[in-house]
Amino acid sequence: MNAMPRLPSFEFDDTILEQGAEISRRLDQLRLEKFPPNAKKNLRSFTMAEVAHYLGVSQNNLKRLHLEGKGPIPEQAASGRRTYTAEQMLELRHFLDRHGRTEVKKYVPHRKPGDKLQVIAVVNFKGGSGKTTTAAHLAQHLALTGHRVLAIDLDPQASLSALHGFQPELDRNLSLYDAIRYDAERKPISDVILPTNFPGLDIVPANLELQEYEYDTPLALQDKSSNAGKQFFTRLAKALADVDERYDVVVIDCPPQLGYLTLTALSAATSVLITVHPQMLDLMSMSQFLLMLGGILKTIKGAGAEITLDWFRYLITRYEPTDIPQAQMVGFMQSMLAGQILESPMLKSTAVSDASLTKQTLYEVERSAFTRSTYDRAIEALYAVNSEITSLIHRAWGRA
Ligand SMILES: Nc1ncnc2c1ncn2[C@@H]1O[C@H](COP(=O)(O)OP(=O)(O)O)[C@@H](O)[C@H]1O
Ligand SMILES: [Mg+2]
Repeated sequence: MNAMPRLPSFEFDDTILEQGAEISRRLDQLRLEKFPPNAKKNLRSFTMAEVAHYLGVSQNNLKRLHLEGKGPIPEQAASGRRTYTAEQMLELRHFLDRHGRTEVKKYVPHRKPGDKLQVIAVVNFKGGSGKTTTAAHLAQHLALTGHRVLAIDLDPQASLSALHGFQPELDRNLSLYDAIRYDAERKPISDVILPTNFPGLDIVPANLELQEYEYDTPLALQDKSSNAGKQFFTRLAKALADVDERYDVVVIDCPPQLGYLTLTALSAATSVLITVHPQMLDLMSMSQFLLMLGGILKTIKGAGAEITLDWFRYLITRYEPTDIPQAQMVGFMQSMLAGQILESPMLKSTAVSDASLTKQTLYEVERSAFTRSTYDRAIEALYAVNSEITSLIHRAWGRA
């Protein structure tokens, strides 16, 4: 019998170094072709029905305004269909507040003097629990409903940035690291904020350098000559104080780990959203996350951190109500966490995952690109989730 030839020998480290470099080079090439550097993302325009929906006015009211020649002039397609740009939607809000019959300015929902900047941290250390999808759609919903929003991408993998058209490998953007680093290179946060394709929504993009914060902080903690490390958890809140006046809401997409970045975000937060996919393994992982996080928070509280939240909620993500085990998990969660789970779960939808393939959100894709019922079901679920969160934000400001 012939002996099988032995497997060829190889050096693991050299091989993965070569393969890593090759994959990265080819991906860069692919990306350059598909998404040229600093390619500006556009935003589609919005139908009368959508505008009426987001503004909370009737379509008839909108039509009347238009016929009377008031407010911004919508674009009219050959089919007769009228659409407004997102900028025009904002203009309409200001117009309606200026010309409203009452003194109540309800169309521009900016916070009033004394209302605290809302900082929402989206967390869970499980990757794939829907943090980035939730953060992106929440930030964009808030912008479309007239709020001034800052999204912060705290995940070195930069998925939230990618969804907004920023590619750290090609665009060489700064990140939050530049605004919270410990050395003399630190810059004001306004230097790392960029506009997005959504009017009213700015972003602090991420890049791999964010990871440095995880290495710098333990070193800074040991530094006897300075208190900066021991107060690491104050760094984001302090950075944000510089731009407090510019925004109503900050949405932070946290990395899928319980490191210093996440703890710093949580210490700056006024509220927390924990995303969870309703499956046994995810729930087990979440319970570990809660136990670890609770423990660490106790420790940093001992070091002087103040964590006072206006609210915190669990959000069920990628939910398939017809999947019996998932429905049972939701029931199980409700029996323990009632009151703390957002009433509306985010449904699993191919509209969401397909949009993400082209680095888009549901607000960016055209409804006509999907089966109507698919798109409508997803956008309705999203609207229910985001409206619930918006009302928590408004309640924190003392609004009904
Ligand atoms: N509601 C949803 N329906 C379908 N796919 C979803 C939904 N939410 C998220 N996904 C997909 O699941 C994957 C993980 O979601 P993501 O938001 O990136 O999670 P995380 O940020 O927690 O790692 C992504 O590919 C995303 O497109
Ligand atoms: Mg993510």
